[in-house]
Amino acid sequence: TAQRPHEAHLAHPDAPAPADALTVPATRATGCPFDPAPTVERARREEPVTRATLWDGSSCWLVTRHEDVRTVLGDPRFSADAARPGFPFLTAGLRELATGTRASRTFIRQDDPEHARLRRMLTAEFMVKKVEAMRPEVQRLTDELLDAMTDGRNSADLVAEFALPLPSLVICLLLGVPYDDHAFFQQRSAVLLSLRSTAEEARAASDELLAYMTQLAEAKRERPDDGIFSRLVARGELDSQEIASMGRLLLIAGHETTANMTALSTLALLRNPGQQARLRSEPSLIKGAVEELLRYLTIVHNGVPRVAVEDVTLGGTTIRAGEGVLCALNAANRDEAVFPGGDTLDVGRDARRHIAFGFGVHQCLGQPLARVELQIALETLLRRLPELRLAVPFEEIPFRHDMGIYGVHALPVAW
Ligand code: HEM
Repeated sequence: TAQRPHEAHLAHPDAPAPADALTVPATRATGCPFDPAPTVERARREEPVTRATLWDGSSCWLVTRHEDVRTVLGDPRFSADAARPGFPFLTAGLRELATGTRASRTFIRQDDPEHARLRRMLTAEFMVKKVEAMRPEVQRLTDELLDAMTDGRNSADLVAEFALPLPSLVICLLLGVPYDDHAFFQQRSAVLLSLRSTAEEARAASDELLAYMTQLAEAKRERPDDGIFSRLVARGELDSQEIASMGRLLLIAGHETTANMTALSTLALLRNPGQQARLRSEPSLIKGAVEELLRYLTIVHNGVPRVAVEDVTLGGTTIRAGEGVLCALNAANRDEAVFPGGDTLDVGRDARRHIAFGFGVHQCLGQPLARVELQIALETLLRRLPELRLAVPFEEIPFRHDMGIYGVHALPVAW
């Protein structure tokens, strides 16, 4: 492959990166930690289809413009099948999830028609109408968590006491997974999403989660309930390995993402007092504000992976069959061609063209649920805690530079 001016490095956090390398996500730390790495931004302006080096030393293409990302994600000449040679993996854990054993394969990393066959079994469960009906339940859980958090205290870690338990409780309720086991599956999910985990650690975490879901499937066979997992078992169309993989995908995707969006959104609003004040005085802006926060923060920030199945010319660059491609959703969501002044958080903006949930056939299945959770969580938090503020200096907030999904490990707040 030809040498490119901006060799992009998606480095392991411990690996020394060249000063001008495109490190994702490490360089979010420099300047504003909500912004994409300056090198990714520069790539979008100067060379929107560029080479990137991955944590394991392999390399792939990085695509940064909104239009090009939509092309890649919407075009069947790019495959989401992680079993294809050349497929780029962001962490050892994700590679393990996708290629470990057949049981580990899930539709997020498969192509149609297999992807469509499996996804179809869940579409009714996550339809807007069905999820909207859950608002009272989500509101109740939100209020209970805030009651407990504020009871006789005026400070807490918002991640541990609110942002993480809320989506975790909701997805457990929906799936029919006992929330009492949350320490077990949250710890395993964290290992799978960490850039620091070794392949062995990831494999162990993956196997433990699969064993857990397999056992749960057996329990649902004997004692069916009205959770999604039980309904999947009852359909009888999936073997027990497929069921375990699907349950694991939903469990991980269902809480890690929304939890990080909740915490990071709160932090972004605390850092943008003008925007926070506007949202407090006009609560009806909440739906649009959530879309804008999804755009501005784009927590699935390390690139959505695909592999070319034929030669494709994109932005003047030819991507060869078998070469991996990462779509930098975070850079695309700041593309000035679509979002003028995109580096600014503006809760009044029409951000509906953002692609924080991806694009094309793999576009996030859980987005109606994530939207309901985020709208309720943020609206309630602002309403109930008018004095909400950081309890530590901003510089001490532990950002998740070492995880496949961006966010904060903890968010100490006071009120
Ligand atoms: C897919 C982001 C919440 C389940 C995706 C994709 C993105 C994404 C970018 C596309 C991946 C790709 O094309 O390879 C997010 C964000 C969330 C969120 C930012 C929260 C703010 C959820 C929730 C669930 C969920 C709550 C609940 C179950 C899924 C599933 C897929 C997916 C099953 C695979 C869809 C497919 O391959 O057809 N998500 N997600 N996500 N998401 Fe989400």
